[in-house]
Amino acid sequence: MSRAQTVAEHYARRALADTILAALEAAGKDLDHLTPDDLAPVDEFHSGQRNATVRLAQLAGVTGSERVLDVGCGIGGPSRYLASRYGCRVAGLDLTADFVAVAQMLAQRTGLADKVAYRQGDALDLPFAEASFDLVWSQNAAMNIADRARLYGEMRRVLKPGGRLAIQDVAAGPGGEPFYPTPWAGDKSISFLFAPQATRATLEGVGLRVVAWHDPTRESLEQAIAGQGSGGRSAAAARPAYPDRAEFPHGLEKHAAKFAGGKDQARQRRARAGVARERILLASW
Ligand SMILES: C[S@@+](CC[C@H](N)C(=O)[O-])C[C@H]1O[C@@H](n2cnc3c(N)ncnc32)[C@H](O)[C@@H]1O
Repeated sequence: MSRAQTVAEHYARRALADTILAALEAAGKDLDHLTPDDLAPVDEFHSGQRNATVRLAQLAGVTGSERVLDVGCGIGGPSRYLASRYGCRVAGLDLTADFVAVAQMLAQRTGLADKVAYRQGDALDLPFAEASFDLVWSQNAAMNIADRARLYGEMRRVLKPGGRLAIQDVAAGPGGEPFYPTPWAGDKSISFLFAPQATRATLEGVGLRVVAWHDPTRESLEQAIAGQGSGGRSAAAARPAYPDRAEFPHGLEKHAAKFAGGKDQARQRRARAGVARERILLASW
């Protein structure tokens, strides 16, 4: 099996559309009049969920006139947010065919099919002409991609001159390998965390200029520790789209659970420094 197939296999879910619609119905939503806000608890597959998407859009200075490409779009939460909140036209691309099908179905049900379009494909070989987009966007997809020079090179190729690249992902921290399984990988064969400096160098190597860099690791850890203290219900466990992954808390949350007791100050500090650091950045050329 190729690495791309292994990644798609990791994310694929049987009957995902039915699971999501049943969860929405159980939550009292009208399935014939769904809004992107109704879907926010189930369709944002990254740390910070909708809040992180809002923050990245603000950092990117989205105005609504942009043509956007969402690389590794999942089931399309961020793309539908950009389309409904700002009016952007968004193309979403994802390796996992099941996700693309669900994204299309949810675009229809939210009345956004004229603004968002999804297709299956590989971020390492983007099926778009050069200089097609004003904004290339990607949240929590790069962690599955080893060849970052090619990924960022492809992103730059499809960006218009002066366009922007807005990325959120999980970076390698000083604590070594994350605890597996993580939400993005069952084991390290499909997990490729880069240190922040390596990411910056790779972006610059393909001709991009980093214009903003935000590291919310501390907030994420604090939230995870607070979550553990209030009964240990993790954000991953709360997502109906991942019912079979409820037992797989995020690596940060495992860290928090392991070290939050506070008896061992040195270990607690190490936990706070993070195995995985989160980062949000914006690059331009
Ligand atoms: C954690 S999910 C994030 C989905 C979405 N960006 C979001 O935040 O809701 C990671 C996504 O990246 C996709 N992905 C991983 N490697 C990819 C690749 N090489 N090309 C396209 N998509 C990829 C996966 O299929 C998965 O949908």
